Amino acid sequence: MARKIVLTSGKGGVGKTTVTANLGANLAKLGFRVVLIDVDIGLNNLDVVLGIEDQVIFDIGDVILGKCRAKQALIQDRKISSLYVMPSCHSYDKVRVLGEHIRNVVDTLDKSFDYILIDCPAGVEAGFHRAVFSANEAIIVVTPHLSSIRDASKVLGLLNEYDLQSKGLVINRMRGDLLLSGEFMNIENIVRALNIPLLGVIPEDDAIGTSCSTGRFLNSVESARSFTLLSENIHNGSKKIFDCTYKYRGLFGYLKRNIKKKV
Ligand SMILES: Nc1ncnc2c1ncn2[C@@H]1O[C@H](COP(=O)(O)OP(=O)(O)OP(=O)(O)O)[C@@H](O)[C@H]1O
Ligand SMILES: [Mg+2]
Repeated sequence: MARKIVLTSGKGGVGKTTVTANLGANLAKLGFRVVLIDVDIGLNNLDVVLGIEDQVIFDIGDVILGKCRAKQALIQDRKISSLYVMPSCHSYDKVRVLGEHIRNVVDTLDKSFDYILIDCPAGVEAGFHRAVFSANEAIIVVTPHLSSIRDASKVLGLLNEYDLQSKGLVINRMRGDLLLSGEFMNIENIVRALNIPLLGVIPEDDAIGTSCSTGRFLNSVESARSFTLLSENIHNGSKKIFDCTYKYRGLFGYLKRNIKKKV
C-alpha cells in the first residue's frame, strides 16, 4: 500500500508544486515508486515544472470520464524511471471533479506505488477538500512570511475534519542571510506557531525560479541537499534539517551577507 500525502498550504504560490516535484524525485531516487498527482484542476502545473507537458496525451479528467485507464494517463519521468506524473485536466468544464473521483484514481494506483503525492491547489475551497479527501498524511508548505503562516494555521484547523495519520511542516524559500539578521521569522517560532513537526527547510534558490520559466528541473547544490534531507526525514523519520545560515556565518559569511544586501 502507498503512503498518500497531500501537499497543501492555503496561501498560493508558496511552493507546493515545487516541493511535490522535488520530494517525489528524491523519493524515487531512493528507490521508491512514486506518482505525483496534479489536483489543481484546470491549471496544470506539475507537468510544466517537470518539463513533460509535451508528453501529455490523457489526463486525470480522461481517467475520471472513463476514456482511459489510470495507468494510461501516467507519464514517466525522462531521467528517473520510478517517477510518474498524473497530469491535471486543462479545462475545468471537461468534468466536474469530486473528491470521490480523485479517491478512485488514487485507489487504483495504490498497489503499484510506494508514494502517492497529491499537489493541492491554493485556497481552502472545493479544490482543497477534493485534494485532501484521498490522502492519509499531509504536508503543509509555508514560506517565512506572516501571511503564509496565518493561512497554514487556518488549513490546519480544516485538516482536523479529516482522518489524517500525520501532519508535517516544510518551510520553503528560507534565506539564511535574512534569518541571521533577524529580518525573517525564525524557524523555532514558525514551528511553535503551527505546532506540527518540522520535516524540512528549503532555501530560496534562484535555480528553482529559473527552472520554472525554462521548464527544466534544476536545483542548486544547497536546495538539492535540502530536498534529499526532506525525503529521508519523510521516509525514515530522521530529523535532519538543512541549515540555510551556514554560508553566512563567520567573517566571509558576514561579508557575503552584506554584499547580498547591497545587490
Ligand atoms: N525554494 C525556492 N526558491 C526559489 N523559487 C522558488 C522556490 N520554491 C518555489 N519557487 C518559485 O515560486 C513560484 C511558485 O512556486 P509553486 O508553483 O511551486 O507554488 P505553488 O504553491 O504550487 O503555487 P500555486 O498555489 O499557484 O499552486 C515558482 O515560480 C517557483 O519557481
Ligand atoms: Mg501549485
